[in-house]
Amino acid sequence: MVKISSSEITPEEVYLDRRKFMKGLGAIAAVGLISPSSVLPKNFSGGEELTSFKSITHYNNFYEFSTDKEEVAELSEALTTSPWAVEVTGLVEKPGKFSVDDLKSRYTQEERIYRLRCVEGWSMVIPWTGFPVASLLKDVQPTPKAKFVKMTTLMRPSEMKGQKSWWYEWPYVEGLRLDEAMNNLTLFATGLYGKDLPNQNGAPIRLVVPWKYGFKSIKSIVKIELVEEMPTSLWMKAAPSEYGFYSNVNPEVPHPRWSQKTERRIGEFRRRRTLMFNGYEEEVSSLYTGMDLKKLF
Ligand code: MTE
Repeated sequence: MVKISSSEITPEEVYLDRRKFMKGLGAIAAVGLISPSSVLPKNFSGGEELTSFKSITHYNNFYEFSTDKEEVAELSEALTTSPWAVEVTGLVEKPGKFSVDDLKSRYTQEERIYRLRCVEGWSMVIPWTGFPVASLLKDVQPTPKAKFVKMTTLMRPSEMKGQKSWWYEWPYVEGLRLDEAMNNLTLFATGLYGKDLPNQNGAPIRLVVPWKYGFKSIKSIVKIELVEEMPTSLWMKAAPSEYGFYSNVNPEVPHPRWSQKTERRIGEFRRRRTLMFNGYEEEVSSLYTGMDLKKLF
């Protein structure tokens, strides 16, 4: 259990003031008074309290640095995140290489408050800044053959010491079905709490898929490939009997080694019930019509 003393918790008034400010900006942008690159806030947390900045940035899974969650923040300081290019390739009409600055100015940045549920049984509520994955995909124009989106993390063992470990097949790879990637909730995050994304959270750009277990939300992305066949993720290779491609949050499907019925919100002590699709059933259940959700692990 992580211990969080109250002195470590980000003074939320500071952030809430900023949020009021950004909300104002969002409203102004909506009526077209300021440029479309302003931040538009959207709250998908059901009004739940935000997890503190300190916890979001000091309790991390980023195996390229360490398997110890509390060590990642310090070790990831070694990562050089600028310049950074994301290559979009494969079954698209308009492949290209995009700098993160380019992506940030090209697409309207939104604030999205999402729950994040880790497969290990803990969860957080995180205010991300970013843009919909769909915006980029529409611009590169997937061909009719493209069925899946494969994403890959940077491979740089000189800065990511964990990549020297033999346990995993680096680089980290994850994927989505194309229609999952196009869903309105699916986000490329470039910031959190109104700041640039900290290295430990996947700087400078990471995926956020809030209805799936956290490991699908791949960090520090350098390559996005549109493909015909379902990609094999790092976790599917590492433990095929434990991790599947879909990995939708489903309290009725236990992990082979533990139940998924409940979770502990970081900063709280009592466990709470885990919600189907992490509470995003309305937005995403139509993606899986006719599929056996118990088999979609
Ligand atoms: N992406 C990469 N490249 N490497 C990782 O180890 N861990 C995943 C996911 N993305 C991981 C990753 C897991 S298990 C979780 S729960 C989330 O990132 C954690 O994101 P956070 O540290 O920003 O909360």
